[in-house]
Amino acid sequence: MRCSAISLVLAAFIGVAQAIPQSQGESSKPPPPPPPEPVQVIELPLPPVSDSTTGACTLKINAKGTGCINRPLGTFHAGGFTPDDKHVVVNVQYVGAPPAPDPASIYNGEHLILVKTDGTKFGNGDPWKCLSCGVPAENARSVQQDKSYPHVFRNGRKAIWGLNILECGGANLESESCKPENTYIYPLYWPNTVDGAGPGGVPRELRVHPDDNHLGFSSFTNFNGQLGQIAYLGLLKFNPIPVSGDTRDPRYDIVDVDVLFDPKGKGIISADGTKLIINNEAINVGELRGFSGTGDEVTCIGGSVEANNMDVFAVHLKTGAVRRLTSHPEYVDPVAFSADNKWIVVMDTRGSNRLMWAAAMRGIPPLADMVTAAATAASRNNLQRRFFQPILLDGFGDRDPYYGQRLNPHDDKPESIGDPNWNGRADPAFSYDGTKIVYWQALVVSPSCGGGNPLPCPASTAQGGREYRLMLATLSSRKAQKVPKVFDIGKGVPWAVRYRPGDALPRREGLKTGEYTLKGQVSGSAEVSITAAPTGAILHVAATYVNFNSDGKHTINGYENITNIPDPQNRYKTELIWFSDLVGTGASTSTKKSTEGGFKLNIELMVNNFQATGKLISTVDGVSYEPPANGT
Ligand SMILES: *[C@@H]1O[C@H](CO)[C@@H](O)[C@H](O)[C@H]1NC(C)=O
Repeated sequence: MRCSAISLVLAAFIGVAQAIPQSQGESSKPPPPPPPEPVQVIELPLPPVSDSTTGACTLKINAKGTGCINRPLGTFHAGGFTPDDKHVVVNVQYVGAPPAPDPASIYNGEHLILVKTDGTKFGNGDPWKCLSCGVPAENARSVQQDKSYPHVFRNGRKAIWGLNILECGGANLESESCKPENTYIYPLYWPNTVDGAGPGGVPRELRVHPDDNHLGFSSFTNFNGQLGQIAYLGLLKFNPIPVSGDTRDPRYDIVDVDVLFDPKGKGIISADGTKLIINNEAINVGELRGFSGTGDEVTCIGGSVEANNMDVFAVHLKTGAVRRLTSHPEYVDPVAFSADNKWIVVMDTRGSNRLMWAAAMRGIPPLADMVTAAATAASRNNLQRRFFQPILLDGFGDRDPYYGQRLNPHDDKPESIGDPNWNGRADPAFSYDGTKIVYWQALVVSPSCGGGNPLPCPASTAQGGREYRLMLATLSSRKAQKVPKVFDIGKGVPWAVRYRPGDALPRREGLKTGEYTLKGQVSGSAEVSITAAPTGAILHVAATYVNFNSDGKHTINGYENITNIPDPQNRYKTELIWFSDLVGTGASTSTKKSTEGGFKLNIELMVNNFQATGKLISTVDGVSYEPPANGT
């Protein structure tokens, strides 16, 4: 299977008790799904909120004078646990520090803090501790602005904080001996020129491998005229005296980088003459999401196995074996494994019906995705609003009819943990002992509600009207698990391409304009017509299905044609003209139909403002799903 480089999917802006998921092949049959289990969810404390005007954070709001944080979401980001499972790491924005007695308060701007998860307090009486506040300027040179996806290394002595690494002279971060004076913040630097000169590459979606030495990350690239992402695995190396590159302060270099691209593979969809071939085993890592608990697999968002149905996948770092972790028609993106690989938690739109109009009908091969991937990915959000909720799955992932357990069951009461107006963000994380999950949410705010939107803006129920919250789910029937040995990456990823700074990225030939036939694995076929631009970008896909069946469960008949009109000024923007008239029989009875004149969708990735004329309606066993109303 695949982790698609064609689909450009942006996160920022995926049994039997003793069975362990095997990533070595399809031979291991998944055990029966686990029964639902008891979950208790609480909100974890954060520093008090104040207005962001100077002096607004009075001693009345925080008597200890240890700062106040921002009410709006801003750049808030929560990460994972310290190895003792008693703290989680969070990036907050401090605001409104008191002007007296110290005009240069250390509680200003973005900072990395630890929050206690066990109800206890740090020595100063706060349930949180700022790790980066008050660090002397000489210990924090060339700090990079990106402070996203904080994560504490398994050794407990380092944290990654966006494009920076924070450590305190070998002390555990939560210990009282980790003080501002012995804390250092180093920038990351990814050499990407032959002589090591320049500002370096900009890695995105950085995730630390469980071995504490490797980093996975992604970058944008151009695949055959279409925006895509490619992923990398590199080694962290401290460089105390850099002699090249724009950053000459002590830094962490990312070296020995592998491009997670299989040069021998033909990709997800390839052609042999006029025969189209869909290879569900193809390695195709696009946006990296992280690693399995032991680090033997890399996780990523995939191109679809089924039309318009985006999923997360795991690819084995040694064998290249690929596992589809999710298959629910809804959209998934953030994913985290338990340390023992036995469980995953995903942030998924399932239950919200956000994307069922596009993906509810099962068993359609992913031909449409050649032109629709960006638009359906963009449709998952309404502006800044996500529709994610945390879903617990065993390590084998979705397998119909098992689609996991929502940690915070739906509940419309505004103060509830299951209020749909509070939406999950990236990343969730397991405690090392496997008994707890930390996740975080943001409240829907204007203009994703209020004004012309039928959803009135809810008042925040969080402290001080805070528009985000940090949540701890306890899996109360579980016993603490041992943390197994971490996978040894050795000299690198055998199926990948070693990157030498300055190298061009590997490429793969795209499909050419032409008429093709796709045979169903079980029965029937599809006649497929593809139009590609001179750049290689796919502009039009049409398919006529006759008794097409590739999964043994669904038989597809009918036709679909989709035209993509790229915006020459804006690579994130798509305009689709979409005609569908499909009928499915077998495991379910379904249709996918566009309304008269077709369904026309205009949407821009990163902006996520859904604007369409006409409709595309998917109906499964009598239940119909329509696209969201414009702007909602
Ligand atoms: C797509 O199908 C519609 C409906 O049958 C048809 O009117 C239109 O011409 C087709 N478009 C293309 C580009 O083939």
